[in-house]
Amino acid sequence: MSIGIDDISFYSSGMYLPLATLAEHNGEDPDKYRIGLGQDRMGVPSQDEDIVTLAANAGRPLVTDDNRNSISTILFATESSIDQSKAAGVYVHRLLQLGSNCRVVELKQACYSATAALQMACGIVARKPDAQVMVIASDIARYGFGTPGEATQGCGAVAFIVKSNPRLLSIHAESGCYSEDVMDFWRPNYRDTALVDGKYSTIIYLKALRQSWKNYEEAGGLAFDQFSRFCYHLPFGKMAEKAHRKLAVTNGVSMTDELLEQQIGASLHYSRQIGNSYSAALYIGIASLLENDAEDLSGKHIGLFSYGSGCVGEFFSATVQPGYREHARRQAHVDMLEQRQELDYPSYVVHFGRSVPADGGRHDFAEEAAGYYRLAGVHDHKRIYTEIGD
Ligand code: COA
Repeated sequence: MSIGIDDISFYSSGMYLPLATLAEHNGEDPDKYRIGLGQDRMGVPSQDEDIVTLAANAGRPLVTDDNRNSISTILFATESSIDQSKAAGVYVHRLLQLGSNCRVVELKQACYSATAALQMACGIVARKPDAQVMVIASDIARYGFGTPGEATQGCGAVAFIVKSNPRLLSIHAESGCYSEDVMDFWRPNYRDTALVDGKYSTIIYLKALRQSWKNYEEAGGLAFDQFSRFCYHLPFGKMAEKAHRKLAVTNGVSMTDELLEQQIGASLHYSRQIGNSYSAALYIGIASLLENDAEDLSGKHIGLFSYGSGCVGEFFSATVQPGYREHARRQAHVDMLEQRQELDYPSYVVHFGRSVPADGGRHDFAEEAAGYYRLAGVHDHKRIYTEIGD
């Protein structure tokens, strides 16, 4: 029995900032962001969009009357959590009208936690082959105005169904992990924005990749040349390029620009448009690969690297299932990205600078969200989520 990803959908905010606009304001050459970081736009949430509304919009297309009561578990991965106690997935469970006999839990380890969720989901399905698990990863990446990380902000959520005999990707049992206690990126409970040592995080990311790959080899995984494509965690697109060149060198392969484009190019399209989505980034990269690679990848192996600062890395692998293209959601994703509203710099500052009031009063938010769900307000410290049009 194979186990893996059967269906995948992602969502970003209704607004975006072109990085050329940010470059102009910051007095930077636009090519620093476009070429140097590999990014074109960043998703900017309105006040009535948060990780719950992004997640519910991502998950909505995956739920049908046929599977509504078969989804036994929601695993919600995030590092921009909205509550220290309640799992954000419980709100999503209600918004998606899933069955009440469903377990829901939230997982955290920076950008890595969706991969822990995927491995746990595979374990649940291995024990109970009829089970379907919905994994959701949703994050809003905030570094702050005028910081070096500002151009690598963004937001997005991804949802996928893990089940037996999946239609998109079968996940291999072999994987390699690496953990080390380092301070390359963190966000103390009292802060809205992350603290990051960006250059150090790049070095640690590459170290975690090398060590995870070594552990993957020891676990009996595939050889580098058995992979057709690779997807990497994407804090910014250029990071994947650095990582892939490093992994090639580690394996004695000389990486040309053409081979680089062939092996990772299609995985970068969507993240170029939405920016960093932390825990969702690798999985939006997988959707990008499956939906944008010109070649039919049926039966091909893909290498996957997940990284979360602090740090945990995992290298794992998958095989693309025959007929996967019939189940990809390319048009919906392209339409969603194209329908977003462009912001100018002052509007970006207004939207990205807002936070949820913490005074316990009654606050109703203006209706600005795109999609199907919105955070209507906060009343007495309780977030109020509604379906748009309700
Ligand atoms: N044209 C093309 N490329 C240009 C350029 C231009 N005009 N100007 C600069 N560049 C390149 C630089 O050479 C550099 O590329 P390199 O890394 O391959 O050498 C890249 O653009 C970035 O420039 P740099 O000066 O290093 O940028 P920075 O100091 O402003 O910050 C980061 C870059 C990535 C360190 C910063 O955005 C950051 O900290 N981001 C957060 C990272 C993160 O999320 N880490 C945690 C999770 S992994």
